[in-house]
Amino acid sequence: MNNAKVAIVTGSSRGIGAAVAQRLAADGFAVVINYAGSAAAAETVARQLLQQGGQALAVQADVSDPAAVRALFDAAEQAFGGVDVLVNNAGIMLNATIADTDDAAFEHQVAINLKGSFNTLREAAKRLRSGGRIVNFSSSVVGMLQPSYGVYAATKAAVEAMTSVLAKELRGKNITVNAVAPGPTATDLFLNGKPQEVVERLAKLAPLERLGQPQDIAATVAFLAGADGGWINGQVLRANGGII
Ligand SMILES: NC(=O)c1ccc[n+]([C@@H]2O[C@H](COP(=O)([O-])OP(=O)(O)OC[C@H]3O[C@@H](n4cnc5c(N)ncnc54)[C@H](OP(=O)(O)O)[C@@H]3O)[C@@H](O)[C@H]2O)c1
Repeated sequence: MNNAKVAIVTGSSRGIGAAVAQRLAADGFAVVINYAGSAAAAETVARQLLQQGGQALAVQADVSDPAAVRALFDAAEQAFGGVDVLVNNAGIMLNATIADTDDAAFEHQVAINLKGSFNTLREAAKRLRSGGRIVNFSSSVVGMLQPSYGVYAATKAAVEAMTSVLAKELRGKNITVNAVAPGPTATDLFLNGKPQEVVERLAKLAPLERLGQPQDIAATVAFLAGADGGWINGQVLRANGGII
């Protein structure tokens, strides 16, 4: 009999998702490490959690594919007996002005950030156990609305909308739905392609004058997924050092 609560963390082979997986495992969750292409990295995260005495399973699934998402939930249920927490972390960012965004960049961001979140939310709405928690991923760019973030910010604004709607639709099920909206955080998604001086300038924007670390965001997710976050529902929690 497995008494641990079970969390699926999408996109947890790297970056914030890997830190969330580490933190939830340390907090006693059995964790499903989802990834799209980085099998070796995901297996390394899973192996570390097992070595630390946790329960973990790496499962490949492209969140933009509804059948793959169903199979992801099937795998979690088969391995651990059910699902209590969904952390909808998988996401991509392709920065360009609206004038310069080609169709492929638009469709790729919508497919993973918006449709991917929808696919997992639909599954979670049907399958999470009572007491469950859903933590979506938005971004502080929804508040900052800088040039070149148009499509990315639009996908994250849509995730915030679904967060509020699903929280209401799950009335009576004892499941909370919230979103975390990080500011600039030191991962591949933020750092790749940015010159060092741009990284340093963006790091200084927040009053706390540093980039977020994946562990900062993992702590925010752990709060919403754990006992202390139980009364928070339908909210967007910006975790960004005060940048907005
Ligand atoms: N970093 C920031 O500054 C920042 C700020 C605000 C919000 N966010 C949000 O935070 C979340 C995590 O971002 P990050 O910075 O940790 O990104 P990251 O370092 O680029 O990692 C992205 C993760 O998502 C996975 N992924 C990508 N496409 C996927 C797909 N189709 N299906 C399943 N998994 C997929 C990747 O898996 P593979 O390794 O297999 O590709 C990887 O594990 C995203 O939703 C992002 O929008 C980040």
